[in-house]
Amino acid sequence: MELREVLGRRRSIRFVRPYKTVEPEKIQMMFEAARIASHWGNVQSLGAVAVHRESASQAVLDSLEATIVGWQIKVAPVVIVWYIDPEMVEEQSDRLRQLIDVGALGFGTKEERTSALEEQLIPVFSGIKENLKAPGLGEIDCGQGIAQATLMAYELGLGTCCLGSPFGERMFKAIGIPDHCRFLLLQTVGYPAEHWEAGGQRPRQEFGRLFKMNSYDQAYPRSDTVVEELKRDKMFTRPAPLPEREAELEYLQRAFDIEPPGLL
Ligand SMILES: Cc1cc2nc3c(=O)[nH]c(=O)nc-3n(C[C@H](O)[C@H](O)[C@H](O)COP(=O)(O)O)c2cc1C
Repeated sequence: MELREVLGRRRSIRFVRPYKTVEPEKIQMMFEAARIASHWGNVQSLGAVAVHRESASQAVLDSLEATIVGWQIKVAPVVIVWYIDPEMVEEQSDRLRQLIDVGALGFGTKEERTSALEEQLIPVFSGIKENLKAPGLGEIDCGQGIAQATLMAYELGLGTCCLGSPFGERMFKAIGIPDHCRFLLLQTVGYPAEHWEAGGQRPRQEFGRLFKMNSYDQAYPRSDTVVEELKRDKMFTRPAPLPEREAELEYLQRAFDIEPPGLL
């Protein structure tokens, strides 16, 4: 599948087949995609524990909880607990040295690059180290990693849904994630039980409201030709709501034995 089509298929899949195991190799592929994501200073602060329903301890499974539409956790064969380890920032100088070594940062001779790094860049980063550990830039990097893992999941025919949770501390304790880490997100993973369109492509804000050219009051021009090309390439698919969605939801509600409205 081409990237554009994967982007077009990426949507929150809340109904996954509880009986169909997700192969560890596929979760590995998601993690491999996350690992090569970009991170400031090549620090790599994103980490995750994949909880497999069929092999995890009952205590770990019981600890997984989200407040909004949390029932998905009880059916998904795999739940990924994503976290950020801000202490990775302690290794930033070595990560930067690696970038210099491989020619990914700066120019001139290796000696020139190395001395500029040691005398200029590392002191700058070291001076703001504690700020860099605080919530902010690191979370953006982690988001990039999670996005890459998510696209890989869809390319593999899986469906996922991200879930925020106020119960990070409890989950960390059960799983053994060090408490200096910050909880980011739960992500349910499984083979879709609903059609991949899941009711159609979800409504979005108007393009020009979000994206601008040169100044905030000038909407970025949106070419219909580009939109048509992306439709042809299946990045834009049938918009929600699809005519069959209500019947599909009724069917899924019965199959999953969920009390309506299923929002918690
Ligand atoms: C960071 C993040 C956190 C989310 N948290 C929740 C959540 O706690 N509960 C939930 O039901 N959906 C959650 N979602 C899913 C969104 O509600 C979903 O993306 C939205 O309905 C749009 O659907 P789409 O992902 O198919 O475009 C989350 C999504 C993201 C990216």
